[in-house]
Amino acid sequence: MAAALKIEHFNLLDDGECDARIVAAKKLLGKRLCILGHHYQRNEVFKHADFTGDSLKLSQLASKTDAEFIVFCGVHFMAEVADILTDGQRSVILPDLAAGCSMADMANLVKVNKCWAELSEILDPDQMVTPVTYINSAADLKAFCGNHGGIVCTSSNARAVLEWSFARREKVLFFPDQHLGRNTAKNMGIGLDQMIVWDFNKPLGGNTPEAIRAARMILWKGFCSVHQMFQPAHIDNFRSRHPEGKVISHPENALQVCEKSDFVGSTEYILRTVRASQPGDHWLVGTELNLVNRLADEMKPKGVKVEFMSPTVCMCSTMFRTDPQHLAWTLDNLVAGKVVNQIRVPADIARPAKAALELMLEVVD
Ligand code: 13P
Ligand code: SF4
Repeated sequence: MAAALKIEHFNLLDDGECDARIVAAKKLLGKRLCILGHHYQRNEVFKHADFTGDSLKLSQLASKTDAEFIVFCGVHFMAEVADILTDGQRSVILPDLAAGCSMADMANLVKVNKCWAELSEILDPDQMVTPVTYINSAADLKAFCGNHGGIVCTSSNARAVLEWSFARREKVLFFPDQHLGRNTAKNMGIGLDQMIVWDFNKPLGGNTPEAIRAARMILWKGFCSVHQMFQPAHIDNFRSRHPEGKVISHPENALQVCEKSDFVGSTEYILRTVRASQPGDHWLVGTELNLVNRLADEMKPKGVKVEFMSPTVCMCSTMFRTDPQHLAWTLDNLVAGKVVNQIRVPADIARPAKAALELMLEVVD
């Protein structure tokens, strides 16, 4: 059998050549192939996606497709979710295996198990604490939630998931993103004095037993390196220049940024809201640069201005790893009968992870 084509050869091709190869391969593979693209992908890759969306929409699409190959232009945890939701019945492919998520890497099973064991010294977490993992996490953390009466959430359903969680147990352990957890809980009327941060490098997360007993939200000390670049001062500056302007932010931003924003929601929500605006509207958008630039180009002919929130260029460098070279390499290998970079979650992890994901999909339906 012929050997797989090598990425080194594709890295020497220019974008135009890769483009032509991607178009040709898509034609040859037809309905056997489904390319999913997250909104943070660069244009050169995004334009080839059959479906685009936020992480919730993409996981729902992945669970429904009949395609034999799902090529996920996104990051590692998204491809894992696609594999879990399709029961390993499809070949899910991540064009560049280095496309991870630095926030997802801020929590791991060893540290979450240690946290659970430390909580067990103070209270009975399996009776009193619902573990909730943001979908931006490794599959074994979703499995942890499935094994402990917990659930998964995305940025577009975090509130419904927290309501579900508090209806069952009095506390929530939320990982890995402290900001999504804090912003959502605050909107539900939970005071900051009822939230603690779990610093995974300190005993008891840096908290006293009394503070743990009193807390309703236990927030893992993780964050997104892209969204932490957006500051309240950026919003103040925009409002002084454009008092009539509107501000929209992703909930991975800090509380101070979300509280100064007019609207807060997932990438899909941001696109929907800005697309519904009137000529003459002016937006400041606090999320990843590729999405904002594309939205600005789309809205310009409609007389709507879209500005990026930070004065410095900040984009998701791991989303950016998926380039036309890796996509062309992946697809040409499929045409040649080779599946490269397949993401496969072991069955003993996939089973409880799927239970936690399906609970989420039931809660949002
Ligand atoms: P969405 O759920 O809005 O797509 O967000 C995913 C993500 O990684 C944002 O940083
Ligand atoms: Fe992860 Fe942040 Fe990139 Fe989203 S933007 S994939 S949370 S590093």
